[in-house]
Amino acid sequence: MSRFDGKVAIVTGGAGNIGAATARLLAAEGARVTVADVSLERAESVAGAIVAAGGTARAQAVDVSDAAAVEAMVADTVAAYGGLDIIHNNAAAIDQNANDQDLVTMDLETWDRVLAVNLTGPMLGCRFAIPRMTERGGGVIVNTASAAAFYGSTSLAAYGTTKAGIVALTPYVATAYAAQGIRCNAVAPGVVVAREAQEAAAAAAGDGESRFREVHRRPPHRPARLPRGDRGRRRLPRVRRRRVRHRRDAARRRRAHRALTDGVAPAAATTARAARRAARPPSADGPSGP
Ligand SMILES: NC(=O)c1ccc[n+]([C@@H]2O[C@H](COP(=O)([O-])OP(=O)(O)OC[C@H]3O[C@@H](n4cnc5c(N)ncnc54)[C@H](O)[C@@H]3O)[C@@H](O)[C@H]2O)c1
Repeated sequence: MSRFDGKVAIVTGGAGNIGAATARLLAAEGARVTVADVSLERAESVAGAIVAAGGTARAQAVDVSDAAAVEAMVADTVAAYGGLDIIHNNAAAIDQNANDQDLVTMDLETWDRVLAVNLTGPMLGCRFAIPRMTERGGGVIVNTASAAAFYGSTSLAAYGTTKAGIVALTPYVATAYAAQGIRCNAVAPGVVVAREAQEAAAAAAGDGESRFREVHRRPPHRPARLPRGDRGRRRLPRVRRRRVRHRRDAARRRRAHRALTDGVAPAAATTARAARRAARPPSADGPSGP
């Protein structure tokens, strides 16, 4: 018995690098998968490869910024496979990155398009998937955020803003629909280099197979090691201290996304303290200080 036997999943941006890899893995573990992408041709190629490998998949054209199209994507999946258990809201308008450079001169259409695809898209995915999951007694939503949500850069302000929006949206959905058995989490990848791009880089470097192996052994974007032990951890910002847990059973028990809870809790406590101070009657000795 595989992990996703009997489950039905939608992966948006399913023709892209991360989406196609996710769709392939879900199908290999037994799920029936809708590969949904703005490019039907590439979605068909991914779904075709899954079917050729013995899995179950269908392709669907969708522009995730279009509410009617997202509703149809969910409805068609339910019609084809009998329900919906998992949605991976993963599509992003990467094609807009070239225009998302300088905030001062950026075309407002670029800003609007990036927000519509990267942020409104996942919201619509949640909106139309939740009622279908509720009918089955629950489900799983995974939104693709990005490390770009947590730091600034000299470009991609629209992109980073949408990913920070995903980080905010996710715990709202998790909290609001936990009672219906719905889990909602976000993944925030760092730079992910597709195998094809690595192969092309290796070929361009000119020393073929050995260079390719080296690229794979020592990924260029391997995250820096975190300091070990409690003293090291105390020096890190609170949000970086959060541990990402991969264990499935632990993830099952945890129905709410925990990103940023470490940062939010102290802020809420500070606000509550300030409110208590403001409500206190003034002391006879004068103001009590900050
Ligand atoms: N690759 C990285 O380094 C990286 C890092 C952090 C986060 N991410 C995130 O991971 C996700 C996948 O990225 P990727 O690297 O696989 O990119 P990709 O460009 O390979 O895939 C994105 C897919 O989304 C599709 N798409 C674009 N607009 C769409 C729309 N309006 N409706 C439906 N589909 C649409 C594209 O056709 C493409 O197939 C994105 O959300 C991205 O922001 C990627």
